[in-house]
Order: sequence, then C-alpha cells, then structure tokens
Amino acid sequence: MATEERLTSGEELDDQLAQLLRVESFDPPAHFKEHALLSDPAIYEQAAADPEAWWAKQAAMLDWDTPFEQVLDDSKPPFYKWFLGGRLNVSHNCLDRHVAAGRGERIAYHWLGEDGSEREITYADLLAEVERFASALKDLGVRKGDVVGIYLPMIPEVVVAMLACARIGAPHNVVFGGFSAEAVRERMEFSDAKLLITVDAAARKGKVAPVKERVDEVMGDLASLQRIVVVRSKGVPCEMKAGRDVYYDEVLAAADPKCPAEPMDSEDPLYILYTSGSTAKPKGILHTTGGYLTGVAATHRYAFDLKADEDVYWCAADVGWVTGHSYIVYGPLANGATSVMWEGAPDYPNKGIWWEIVERYKVSILYCAPTAIRACIKWGAEWPNGHDLSSLRLLGSVGEPINPKAWLWYHKVIGHERCPIVDTWWQTETGAIMITPLPGVTRTKPGSATNPFPGVVADVVDESTGESIEQGQGLLVLKRPWPSMLRTLYKEEERYVNAYFNRFGPETYVVGDAARRDADGYIWVIGRIDDVVNVSGHRLSTAEVESAIVAHPDVAEAAVIGQHDEDTGQAIVAFVTLQGDLEGDEREQESIRDTVAERIGKLARPKRIIWTDDLPKTRSGKIMRRLLRDIAEGRELGDVTTLRDPEVTAKLEARIGELRAAEE
Ligand code: WTA
Repeated sequence: MATEERLTSGEELDDQLAQLLRVESFDPPAHFKEHALLSDPAIYEQAAADPEAWWAKQAAMLDWDTPFEQVLDDSKPPFYKWFLGGRLNVSHNCLDRHVAAGRGERIAYHWLGEDGSEREITYADLLAEVERFASALKDLGVRKGDVVGIYLPMIPEVVVAMLACARIGAPHNVVFGGFSAEAVRERMEFSDAKLLITVDAAARKGKVAPVKERVDEVMGDLASLQRIVVVRSKGVPCEMKAGRDVYYDEVLAAADPKCPAEPMDSEDPLYILYTSGSTAKPKGILHTTGGYLTGVAATHRYAFDLKADEDVYWCAADVGWVTGHSYIVYGPLANGATSVMWEGAPDYPNKGIWWEIVERYKVSILYCAPTAIRACIKWGAEWPNGHDLSSLRLLGSVGEPINPKAWLWYHKVIGHERCPIVDTWWQTETGAIMITPLPGVTRTKPGSATNPFPGVVADVVDESTGESIEQGQGLLVLKRPWPSMLRTLYKEEERYVNAYFNRFGPETYVVGDAARRDADGYIWVIGRIDDVVNVSGHRLSTAEVESAIVAHPDVAEAAVIGQHDEDTGQAIVAFVTLQGDLEGDEREQESIRDTVAERIGKLARPKRIIWTDDLPKTRSGKIMRRLLRDIAEGRELGDVTTLRDPEVTAKLEARIGELRAAEE
C-alpha cells in the first residue's frame, strides 16, 4: 500500500527498515500493474518459444530504410550478426522519426547546469544541431568508418556529438570525463581516432577545471589525430593549434544546416567503448547498429515501463559509461522519451540536489547506482524528505549488486513504498539490460536482479563442468546470442574469443560474474570473479592500476586488489614494494595516488596503500592475488606452503592487523 508519511528520526527509519527486511518479496503494486505495458507473465514463454520472432518484433518498431531479410546469422559462433540485409540510421531513429511524426516540440532533455542555468532541448532543436554538426564533421574530413573520440562532460553537446557521428557512420569512442587526459590519449591511440571532440573546461562542484589544456599536454605527438574540436562551455581561453584545433560553435556556424541521415547496414559499427578487462590494456567493446538499437529500445521500454508522452525519465549516470550510452542517449531517444540531464555531482550545491531535480522536473522514472543510494543513506533521509517526490512511479538500479538495506531504503524513503524497483544487471559488453524484473509482472526480492529479460537466456553454471546449477552458486553465463551483444573487441578478434568464449565453447558467453540461483530460480549476482574491481559502479582493472603504480619512479612492484567497502561497494587496495631502502610514508602514498590519478583518473586512486618488502608469489613468480584478498578481508588462509617465501603472508597479516587497529 502507498504511504505518504514523512519519516522523522533515523532511529524510526531503522526500525521500519528492519521490519521491511523481514518481507522477502514485493508484488508489483496493483495500481502499477493495471497500467503497465507488460503485465502478463506469458510474455516470457512467448519470447522463449521463438526468440528470433520476439526480437524481430522489437526491431520492427524501429524505422528501417531497407527491411532486414534474416533475423540472426549464428553460423559462425561466437561471431553473430543480427537483422541481416537491413539498413537504418540510428540518429534518424532517435530524431527525424519523432520530428516527422509531429513530436518535434517534445522536450528531449531538460538540461540543468551546475550553476543553475537551464536548457530545454526539444527533439526539433536536437535534430537541427545534430544535422549541422554532422555536416561540420564531414567538412573536417570525417568519413564513414573513421573513429571520432569524444571527451566531454555532461553537457548537451555530448549527445549532439554522439548522434552526429551516428548520422554519418563514424563510430564514436567516448571517454568518461573522470578519466585523465593520459587515459584519453591511450584510447585515441588504440582506436586510431582521427578527430577528438572536447571542451575548454568542466564544472567541478563550483570550480572550473581546465580540460583542453590537459589534453594538449599529452596529445601532441599522436599522428592519427588530425583534428580537435573544442566546445566553449565555460568561457575558459584555450590555446588553439593552427590547422588542428577548431571551435565547435565556429564550425557549426559555417556548416550546412542539412545533413540527411545516411542509411547504415545493420551490422555497421555504431561505437567503440573502452572498458576494463583483466589485463592492463582496456578492451574496445564494439557495438553495431540494428541489433544494438533494438536491444536498448526494447529494454528501455519494458524494464522502465516507459510511456513516452507522460513520463519524465532520469538516468543519473554519466554519458561516458555504457549506462549513459544506452540509457541516457540511445534507448530514451529511440523511444521518444523526455529525459533529465544534470551536469553536476549528487552533493553539490547541496546533498538534496537530486531530490530538488526530481521535484522540479516531476521525474517519474529514476535510474541510478546503489553507491549513490548508499551515499544518500549516509547523508540522511531529511534531504529527500524535504522534497515532493510524488511524481516518481518507478525506480531503477544498475552497476553493482544492491544490498537489501539500500534496496529497502530506496523503496521506502524515495519510492514511498509505491514504486516498483528494477534492479538491472548488464555490462558494457551486453549493450543492454539482460537480467531485470518487468515492473508490472515480476515479484521483486531486495538484492536480486530476478530473471532474464524476455528472449535472453542466462544461466548459473558449475565453474568446471559448465553444467546448470539449479540452486546454488556458480558462474553467470548467457547462452543464446542477443541483438545488442558486442560483436568483437576492436582490432582484437582473438582476445574477444579468449576473453568470453574460451571456457565453455563459442556458444556460451562467460560474463565474468559469480551468481547464485535461489529456490524460485531468481538470480542474485554476487560480483566479479576476474581481476576487475567495481568502485562506486566504476569498472576498473587491477592490472591497469598496478601498471600505473609501478610507473612511479620509487616503486619496485605492486599488487592491487578490490576489497569490500561499505560506501563504494569495493575499494582499491594496493600492496606496494618500494625501490631499494626507500621508506614508505604518507607523502609517498600521496605521490603514488597522484601518479594513478594522472595515468588513469582520480577514480582509480587506491584507498589504502600497504607497504611490504615482498609479495606472496608462487615458485614461478606469479603474484597470488587471491591470498592478498584473503589477507585484506581477514579470512583464514589455506595452504601457503607452495609459496616461494611462505613468511611473506605472515608478515602481511601482521601489518594489516596493525593498520586495522590504527584505523579503529
Ligand atoms: C556489475 C555497467 C550486480 C557486474 C552496466 C557486471 C551488477 C559489471 C549490476 C559491468 C547489478 C552491473 N547487480 N552487479 N544490477 N549491474 N553489475 O561494464 O559485475 O560498467 O559484470 O556495465 O557491473 O560493469 P559495466
């Protein structure tokens, strides 16, 4: 039942949450079910009976220049193709189609700047700017197939840049604004980017951080990069290199206002997005056109029960991550949704800003990460309680497992017990949501992503045999190709096969997560089983952080692990051996953190640095990260006699004990 009561004290809330904790599951609220796009569980059987027909039906909701002749080509696993023979353009589907249908005046984005400035961008506005910028990109020499880098903060131009690329068939390679310029350079180099779109400076909680200047410091000698387009967002003067650098507004003014969308083959690349894998080199996930758009549009429609002409939808992620690509840009625009886009952080100008935004724009669907919810819990219910949240009707979660307490707080304090919660599991690689409740169908359980989306086949299997585990823990796998799946790793085909299909053959996609299946068949995702850590929903590779740390001149060796953390889900812990007789102190720690920030980004800085003379290694010299994880979590260590120097672990355990005592 819906309750609108306001909670007063933290204690009272804790009591109420404790009571809720005893409730194991929640049926879709009757009022929600009544109006839901999908409310009949038969949808699962229908999709399972003929998944190709189900996906073809979803694809048919898009506008195709040439209809597809074949739904799926699975003749060469793990290289799958979808909607063969079909031609369509993503930007046409996101913009022209809606404008042509008389929806040009609908707001695509309510954009709110950190300084309080607002921009209302209609579908017609967005189309006009995308056409112009697509013309400008052509004027700058970008051709179909050329990779375009995008390093922009949460400003409307990032959406324009992505769609302009899609319009002319230039795959974009967006780098999250929180990554360092070094990380951008590396990603531009790996993808042979020809042009980069960036910004003068970005808003950072009331301050302005220069961006173009940082880019210039590292980008100088990159041969493939011929052009840099600079958006003037904060009025910070930039040095512009003649012949290479141009301002966004100037090229826009000079460009042809018309640029018809070019029909692409369904399998033409749409974008590359680099994500962390188990080695230091990030993986270039490649997504294509028809299948990707089908996947994001269908999941956005049904997981969020989107009613495009009524809802105000807000995905509070950053466009630089896949969540932003699929659920700020492509899914919502393909569905003609009205979205909110917030430039800033969740705690600036104050800790109530998110709830002020919900109230101001009457947000009805909110999609965010558990780490944000945990931060809100810490800040206190008085922040959301000070705002009218009655417009909300559905809540979503993504990026990491949501602990039941955070789920229940979200349900109670934000959703006032009337909004279903969809805990959506997916990855950069899957392109779209794979495991999620359907809010009008599924009984939800706090902490479980529940069931695969219709047409998706997920399984929990035994780690060694690959056999299905009916109930219990194992590896999460996806057993049937899906339209929005990655097609390969950019320029690393062999790595694509090895990374995902080596274990159980080319028809079983190995996710990299462990999961548990309960007696009702519900899936509970536990977390990564590879050397990937998830810090506040940000995916990072331990190997990448290690290689950044050893780049520090004083460091001899480093091993990095993810440790459970109350606030951020996981935190980065680095075990570091310094050169020669160097003594580790606080200053040295800060200097190492700075090196990591410079090479990867602030988000990758180790929370803890633990000095050690040696690392636990096998006789062949391989660092035993598993042991380090056990030591850090204070777990019982198994047999250590196979180590080259069994003493090392005892010393480390003592060291951790001391640190823990000091922290307490
Ligand atoms: C984790 C983000 C539990 C998981 C969309 C996955 C989750 C990795 C959930 C992908 C969830 C994402 N419950 N874990 N609802 N959503 N994950 O590529 O470990 O940045 O493999 O994609 O995040 O992270 P990525």
